[in-house]
Amino acid sequence: MPVLRAVSGALEDGQRRGSVYGGGLLVFEKVPPMVELCAYADGLIREAFETGDPVRAQFELGRDEYLSRVEALQRRFRGDGTARELFLAALGHAGVDLRRTFWDWLYLRVSPHGDEHAGRRTAGLGFHRDTWSSDMYAQTNWWAPIYPITAGRTVAFYPAYWEKPLKNASREWDLEEIRAGTSSAPVVPGPTEAVDTASELRPVIEPGDLLLFSGAHLHASVPNTTGLARFSVEVRTVDAGDSADGRGAPNVDGEAPRVASGWFRHVEDGTPYPRSRRVRPRNAV
Ligand SMILES: [Fe+2]
Repeated sequence: MPVLRAVSGALEDGQRRGSVYGGGLLVFEKVPPMVELCAYADGLIREAFETGDPVRAQFELGRDEYLSRVEALQRRFRGDGTARELFLAALGHAGVDLRRTFWDWLYLRVSPHGDEHAGRRTAGLGFHRDTWSSDMYAQTNWWAPIYPITAGRTVAFYPAYWEKPLKNASREWDLEEIRAGTSSAPVVPGPTEAVDTASELRPVIEPGDLLLFSGAHLHASVPNTTGLARFSVEVRTVDAGDSADGRGAPNVDGEAPRVASGWFRHVEDGTPYPRSRRVRPRNAV
C-alpha cells in the first residue's frame, strides 16, 4: 500500500521517480523557493480580490464578481514569470533533473467554502486519475497550498485503488472534443461505479511544502465546508526519458483515446514534448 513520506532536502531524481511510479506520496518539506512563492502568490491574491483577508474574500463579494476575479487571477498567475521561476527553482531544489523534464502550466486552484461560489473554475474535482485523461503514466503531479490547510480543505487520495481497477469513463472522454465545444463531458473523466473510500488519505501539509504523486493515483478535492477558501498551486511534469522507455506507474484501468503529450513543454526552453515519444507502457490495458 502506498504511503506518505516526508523528505527534507533533495532526493536523487531516479529514486524520486521510482518512488512516485511505485505509488509513493512524497512531501518535500519547507522548500525555500516554495516559501517564497507562497508569499508572492499571497500578494497577487490580495491584489486580485482587493482584500486583506484572502481566504474570506468570498464573503465580501457576490458569486459573479468572485468568479470573474478568480478567472483574472488564474490567468495572471499562469503567465507570471516570477511564479514560474520560483516553481522551477522549487523543482530543482527537490532534485528534479530539469534537462529531461517537461511540464504543462502553473495552475492556481481556488476552492471556496460551500457551494454558493462554485463555478467551472472553482468547483471541486470528483474522484479521478489524471491518467484517465492524459494517458501518460510517467506523469507526476506537484501540489502545494498557499495558506494553511486542514483535513477539510485539502486533496484526498484513495491508495487502495493504486492496484485495483475502477470502472471509469476514460474511453469516452476526449479533451479535443471538449475544447472544440462538441462534448458535454465533465472536466475530467470520472468513475462509473461506486468508490470504496475506506483507504482515504487526506494529507495536511504546510505552506512551503510540496506534495508530489503519480497522475495514476485516484484522488479528489475534499468538499470544502471549513469557512475558509483553499488556494493551492499545481503543475504536472513528465520525464521524457521514462516516458520514451515506457517507464511509469502501472495502468490498471485507463482507456484514454489519446496520449496528451501536447499539454507538455520543456521546463527550460519551452520546446514541445516530442511526438515520437508517445509510448504507452507495456502493462497498459
Ligand atoms: Fe487531478
